Amino acid sequence: MFIAVCCDRGAPGSTTTTLALGVSALEPTIVVEADPYGGDLALRCTAPGGKVFPSLPTVLTLAAEARSSIDPGLVAGKAQEFTGWTRIVPGHLSAEQAAGVKSWAPLAQALRASALRTVVDLGRIHSGSPTLPVAAAADVLVTVTRPEMGSVIHLRERLERMAPVLAKLRNAPAVVVPVVVTSKRIAPAVVAEVRQLLAASEGIADVGWIAWDPVGVERMQAGQVSGKDARTALLRSAATVNEQLERAANVPPGISQARNVQADGARTRDGKAGRASNPWVRAVEARMGA
Ligand SMILES: Nc1ncnc2c1ncn2[C@@H]1O[C@H](COP(=O)(O)OP(=O)(O)O)[C@@H](O)[C@H]1O
Ligand SMILES: [Mg+2]
Repeated sequence: MFIAVCCDRGAPGSTTTTLALGVSALEPTIVVEADPYGGDLALRCTAPGGKVFPSLPTVLTLAAEARSSIDPGLVAGKAQEFTGWTRIVPGHLSAEQAAGVKSWAPLAQALRASALRTVVDLGRIHSGSPTLPVAAAADVLVTVTRPEMGSVIHLRERLERMAPVLAKLRNAPAVVVPVVVTSKRIAPAVVAEVRQLLAASEGIADVGWIAWDPVGVERMQAGQVSGKDARTALLRSAATVNEQLERAANVPPGISQARNVQADGARTRDGKAGRASNPWVRAVEARMGA
């Protein structure tokens, strides 16, 4: 499955939500930071062993190689280990570096071709964004919003403008799941309100929520995602959103096959159980038919 995550002006949370949807998945996932204006995923996250992520490869390396290859292993080949189940392709640091990318369409193709689940952070997006082909190629588009009425109204306007452009690019209406970042206490009321506000908007498959959880964010970025750390409000809410996304996207059959392969794999940060039982390695082998 290929999930794209974006947000609107004034509604941050796109990168954090993307990482949470990656880390809380039940299968190995590649998190790609493809915000054309640059990102800081590699700086925020701690690599295994308390290390710093190397500055390369970034999404720009991937975008460049995607011009000449649509290998199903291309995205995985550029991803760096974060946790036992999650790998990341960090973004470039500053917007100027992306000037050389004339088109994001090859990256969209590479992500679509990826044998493994991908969650891609597009940052702020609008109907003229260069990364629109990536949003259009995704199985499902998550739009991150804040619980304020203004944010949701903005989102509704944006979706109205983006819907025809996305539909034209993908020859079908986009499947959109808005997600509100809010505290657990008010989440049910907020989700109900957002549903109502977006009732007349096209292509909304469902509405979800992600917990506002600063401690959970910190632990996740430190790579602490197993045991009790997997039970933070942030990761629990993200796991529920993942279920909603699977339903919204009508997950293709390949997924369950890979799931079975990994079901008995240990969910450890660094694949302590060794290569043979490393869920990541086994998933790659299963998907690639190795
Ligand atoms: N669910 C959340 N709980 C707590 N803090 C969050 C959450 N989502 C985002 N934040 C915080 O809000 C700020 C902006 O989030 P970020 O994900 O970087 O947004 P964007 O990528 O859209 O700019 C960061 O400091 C981040 O830690
Ligand atoms: Mg960001």
